[in-house]
Amino acid sequence: MTKSWYHKTSIYQIYPRSFYDSNHDGIGDLKGILSKLDYLTELGFETLWISPFFSSPQADLGYDISSYTDIAPEYGSMDDALLLIEEIHKRGMKIVFDMVMNHTSTEHEWFKESRSSRTNPKADWYLWRDKPNNWKSMTGGSGWHYAKERGQYFWSSFLPFQPDLNYRNPEVKKVMLDAVRFWLSKGVDGFRLDIFNVIYKDAEFRDNPFTFQLAPTETNPSGFFQEAKYTLNQPESFAFAKELRAVCDEFGEKLLLGEISGDRETAQKFLGTKTNDGLTLAFDFDMLTFKFTAEYFRELIQKIEAHVPDPFMPVYVFGNHDRRRSIDRLGNDLQKAKLLHMLQLTVRCVPCLYYGEEIGMTNLKQSFATALDPIPRKFKHIPPLLFDMIGLTINRDEVRTPMQWDETANAGFSSAQKAWLPVHKNYKTINVETESEDENSLLNTIRAVMKIRVEEKSLREGTLEMLTDLPNGVLGYIRKFEDEKIIILLNFDKKEKQFEFENTHCIFKLFPKDKAAKKSVYLSSFGGMILK
Ligand code: NOJ
Ligand code: CA
Repeated sequence: MTKSWYHKTSIYQIYPRSFYDSNHDGIGDLKGILSKLDYLTELGFETLWISPFFSSPQADLGYDISSYTDIAPEYGSMDDALLLIEEIHKRGMKIVFDMVMNHTSTEHEWFKESRSSRTNPKADWYLWRDKPNNWKSMTGGSGWHYAKERGQYFWSSFLPFQPDLNYRNPEVKKVMLDAVRFWLSKGVDGFRLDIFNVIYKDAEFRDNPFTFQLAPTETNPSGFFQEAKYTLNQPESFAFAKELRAVCDEFGEKLLLGEISGDRETAQKFLGTKTNDGLTLAFDFDMLTFKFTAEYFRELIQKIEAHVPDPFMPVYVFGNHDRRRSIDRLGNDLQKAKLLHMLQLTVRCVPCLYYGEEIGMTNLKQSFATALDPIPRKFKHIPPLLFDMIGLTINRDEVRTPMQWDETANAGFSSAQKAWLPVHKNYKTINVETESEDENSLLNTIRAVMKIRVEEKSLREGTLEMLTDLPNGVLGYIRKFEDEKIIILLNFDKKEKQFEFENTHCIFKLFPKDKAAKKSVYLSSFGGMILK
């Protein structure tokens, strides 16, 4: 059966504030994205996901929305947004917006009204209680905040200025689904859904049980000594995924990509029953903490193949605007990054790449005290070293620095005196222009493999079968679609490998030395090969 486009696509995430500044104020904007569409077309990713650019006081850099159907002036206008949709479509690409359905900003008119009294028409649009229960927010500490106007507390799953909407109120559900419809009617191809598994909380506000777990992990979102039993993954949220899907279906095939923290069984519940009638995709965040070994990836692929089989499609993601940049886990080694992305673009999945990952942009250490990101400010009394030791990026400014376009001032991101965040000092070597000229750069490797991915049906929608009997450190798999077949061999070892392998024809090699003869292959240190 032929797959829907959203199961065959590839996603590139744009953090608009950091992509390209068109009007010299140091802040990236929609016109900036428009002016880089040729670059994006050439890169080859078919779907662009753009982090929020709606009206917002920007206390959480756009994830605190004050109007879902207006554009924040620093990013541009409604006309710019509509033009962006049109231009992306003209190029045969898709555009996905970022929907923050769980919470608004405290500056949203709905919240202002809701807070104003216990009797106003929107009094029940958020979660209000006379007394807090024991629930902790996802960022630590009680998520209940006092509002003197009502003499009551409101609930925020994330930060205090992001109050959760009350989806048990039919009016709330209606206005939010109308916001979804508003953008779908403008031609948007779907949404990335912010903390979607938080949408419903327990109707009875029962206390969460105790657990020994201190910090939340990628597979277990409980933490701060509390199991998130009544604050996450409620059955009503699984049902809501289907309801949202039905709304999208009114407009054709639309992508719905859930940000769902937790284990794979839970994520699966959001994707619906066997026919995948819920969200169309869900991130797999477990792999954000990947280890760079063939064994790790063999196991990961096997687990994913078992948990997310056809007709579901997994999403492979190694970095985003909240987590360490992927290359940081590789000791900033560009050769290893090539192999990592070769895997990402050839395994059975929808690959999701974070802006700058294609050129190997690195984290930029910055102080907690002066951070623009609200999270590190919350933890400014804890020494950053402690977080480094457990591999947590608390200061998300570190992964949101301006895109490095060329060797000119501000890496070509902006002609303002100062960009909104500092540019990484490595921009003279790590930038799009320099890497475009180098045939073997990470950027050109990604472009080349993307080209093969787009051309080969077996890579986009074929089955995956693991190869066994390969030398230690080498990972191999076969992708098949009808009678088309592609073989991928990846050497995660520093040692070069030569081994017997009855192959056909090599269509791509990572390093010039990698070669395939009739009955054997040779892979350099961290080398890789695609055979047909
Ligand atoms: C998850 C988003 O990815 C993050 O950037 C944001 O701060 C929180 N949700 C709250 O919306
Ligand atoms: Ca700007």
